[in-house]
Amino acid sequence: MARVNMRAIVLLCLLHTASTNNLFSWDGPGRAAPEPGSDAGSACSTDKSSCGCCLMVRKTNQMKTYFDTTLTELENEFMKANQSLHTMKESRVAFTVSLYGRETIMCHGPFRDNRIVTYKDVLLNYGGAYNTSSGIFTVPHSGVYSLTVTIYSDAGSPGNMLAACATLQVNGKAVAGARDFNPNDQEDSATIVLALHLKAGDKVSVELTKGCFLCDDSSHYNTFSAFLLYLTE
Ligand SMILES: *[C@@H]1O[C@H](CO)[C@@H](O)[C@H](O)[C@H]1NC(C)=O
Ligand SMILES: *[C@@H]1O[C@H](CO)[C@@H](O)[C@H](O)[C@H]1NC(C)=O
Repeated sequence: MARVNMRAIVLLCLLHTASTNNLFSWDGPGRAAPEPGSDAGSACSTDKSSCGCCLMVRKTNQMKTYFDTTLTELENEFMKANQSLHTMKESRVAFTVSLYGRETIMCHGPFRDNRIVTYKDVLLNYGGAYNTSSGIFTVPHSGVYSLTVTIYSDAGSPGNMLAACATLQVNGKAVAGARDFNPNDQEDSATIVLALHLKAGDKVSVELTKGCFLCDDSSHYNTFSAFLLYLTE
């Protein structure tokens, strides 16, 4: 019996030595682990012979608390990041449409009034926010969007009036335009590129100015594109 006790004390002393050498000492980087409410401390003061063991228990408990707390924090952070990723995936919006996409060149217009251009050739309509019947892009989520319009026209022969004009509209109001109205060029093209803060429900379209006309074939000279850069509240 005495031998067994002796062995236990030797082991405890070894552990105690290890502990004082700081091999197992860890309060965690930059944060204090709560003191374990165990009996380790009090046992240490009443039973000197098992003091090393009690210190080990305390350190182990501190490490356990530290790792448990850290794991919980990491799990919470992961869930938040996963949720953000999910929201981003759910709100993806991107489209590119062109006027016709036909082999032979065809012109749209001129008309006596301003008219929304209905682009019929869909190259991409991710999220289905562009309506090919109405020509309107209805903003599904508030955010900052990149918008691009390219226009091209061909007067048919030299000396004819070239009239390539269109405006980008948000809720019926022009926010940017492109215009080339002259008899000196037979062909011309122009591009509008904007970053705009749009609200959910906003209606965005391209309007062909009265008297103007746009021409296109499978080269996709006339395109209307938008994609979400990032969401806002
Ligand atoms: C991430 O979030 C999505 C949507 O809430 C959920 O369906 C999925 O199970 C989550 N993934 C993990 C690993 O928690
Ligand atoms: C697209 O626009 C047409 C014409 O305005 C309308 O009848 C139709 O309901 C719209 N489609 C969608 C999916 O909103």
